Amino acid sequence: MKRSADCKQLLLDRVEGLLQIPTIPAVLAPLLRYLEQPVEKLDVQKVTDFIAQDKSLAAQCLQMANSPLFGRWQQVDSLRGAVVSLGFRHVSDIAMSCGMLKMLPGKKRGFDPIVFWEHSLGCALLCRHLARNINLDDPGKAYLAGLLHDLGIIVNLWLLPDEFGEAFEAARSEGMPLHEAEQRVLGFTHCESGGLLAERWGFAPGLVEVVTHHHLPQRSSENTTLVSLVHIADLLCRTGGLNHGYVEARQVNLFEDAGFALLARSSSALKKFDWARLTFELESYMDEVHRLVRMIYRA
Ligand SMILES: [Fe+2]
Ligand SMILES: [Fe+2]
Repeated sequence: MKRSADCKQLLLDRVEGLLQIPTIPAVLAPLLRYLEQPVEKLDVQKVTDFIAQDKSLAAQCLQMANSPLFGRWQQVDSLRGAVVSLGFRHVSDIAMSCGMLKMLPGKKRGFDPIVFWEHSLGCALLCRHLARNINLDDPGKAYLAGLLHDLGIIVNLWLLPDEFGEAFEAARSEGMPLHEAEQRVLGFTHCESGGLLAERWGFAPGLVEVVTHHHLPQRSSENTTLVSLVHIADLLCRTGGLNHGYVEARQVNLFEDAGFALLARSSSALKKFDWARLTFELESYMDEVHRLVRMIYRA
């Protein structure tokens, strides 16, 4: 118990010094600030010029623009074409994901950054898909929330690599959810550490809640629908092959899940949702997510 209290204090101290991890703000801040403006004020060329300054961001935009996951079957070979094809919203999401990718340390103690990225992108796509199908007002916001929900894992990897490695090993060998192993070994989960960073980076309140409560959506207050949606998508990914690199032993009944009940309360369309079809679609998603992530990661 004392050790986990020490870990938590260590985390808090280290989060205070988090500006030592400058990659995300450096890549993102100016572009994201620019993209926050009303869409009619945005200039394609300006966004293109900004992206061109960062080689891996440019490569990611091109690869995403050419992926069927983003609805393109036609070849896009210029950066400007990629910006037009993806739209400002996706460019902003990709900038965010690019920054996060740069923060991921290499493979360590069984934790594979590519697998982490597949989980995040898979969850983002699933969130967007679910949001569209249950008529949530902003599928783009759901996509971003899915992409960033496990931000705390990166925080833990950076700030407490040995302790996190131990938690990851325990989770993998016992087939338990990662957050439960973190709680046991570290005394806190990636939800708490991610929440601290999300707040520090000034994420929108909905995103902070997603990062903080995606494993316990009943604790969210203002953005329960979004948090529950991400919770469900995360669960589907973890049980459907876009997991953290190991299979969790516990059987999950989605329809008895607290997040599912919360989501059903706010969306009547959920009752009519075709889950059998989703399971089928999920399989085809996976192949493309694997392919795309491996391509991006090598860029
Ligand atoms: Fe998580
Ligand atoms: Fe997750």
